[in-house]
Amino acid sequence: MKKLEMLYEGKAKKVYKTEDEKKYIVEYKDDATAFNGLKKGTIGDKGIINNKMSALLFTLLEEKGVPTHFEGQLNDREMLVKAVEILPLEVIVRNVAAGSLAKRLGLDEGVEMKTTVLEFCFKNDALGDPMVNEDHIEAIALATKEQVALIRSYALQVNQYLRAFFIEKGLKLIDFKLEFGVYEGKVILADEISPDTCRLWDAETNRKMDKDRFRRDLGEVEETYQEVLSRLQK
Ligand code: TMP
Repeated sequence: MKKLEMLYEGKAKKVYKTEDEKKYIVEYKDDATAFNGLKKGTIGDKGIINNKMSALLFTLLEEKGVPTHFEGQLNDREMLVKAVEILPLEVIVRNVAAGSLAKRLGLDEGVEMKTTVLEFCFKNDALGDPMVNEDHIEAIALATKEQVALIRSYALQVNQYLRAFFIEKGLKLIDFKLEFGVYEGKVILADEISPDTCRLWDAETNRKMDKDRFRRDLGEVEETYQEVLSRLQK
């Protein structure tokens, strides 16, 4: 499949049209940002790692029955996906307190949630992706009630399958962010699943194995991304 014009360039990926109007090509970049773009850098080979890891996890989720935009990996940095219309929501799933939740509620990072927490943010960089509830989502038509119900159900299924898969690889899934899109009228999982969008801690040592190494200047960023991929491939 040939790449045609670029449709969109985000902070970590580029999206291209193809000769098939129902398919896009996603190219994963090494660029990394944090704090809504305030901190900028690159993580060597991140694009390759995130493309491979997303391909592997989308394949696993499809096998479990969760519909995704993934059609196939094309090369190191590119995958073919269904041409979804992205819903302007960031869906965050949390198993353990960390990051903005720990800050907002005054919890120590590492405190287990008694039940899984789902949060929705309005995907809008100019506003800093503010948190919204299901009433806001319906009231300003970010998604319909039916779409939100499906998203909730898929997000919890994804959590269940990924948690089980990661723990086998010695990784605890602390929290993660998903994005969904609409394709042929149906809600499906889109975007990526990678150390950029998940918090993963080593199951034995609690070492941070994700983008927090970049966000918080913890060092060994590239090596850690590589280590996560190689554990998942075993
Ligand atoms: P947070 O604790 O900073 O709100 O992040 C929650 C999860 O969402 C964490 O796994 C990182 C991920 N995330 C993104 O993928 N993109 C973002 O822009 C932000 C803020 C978080």
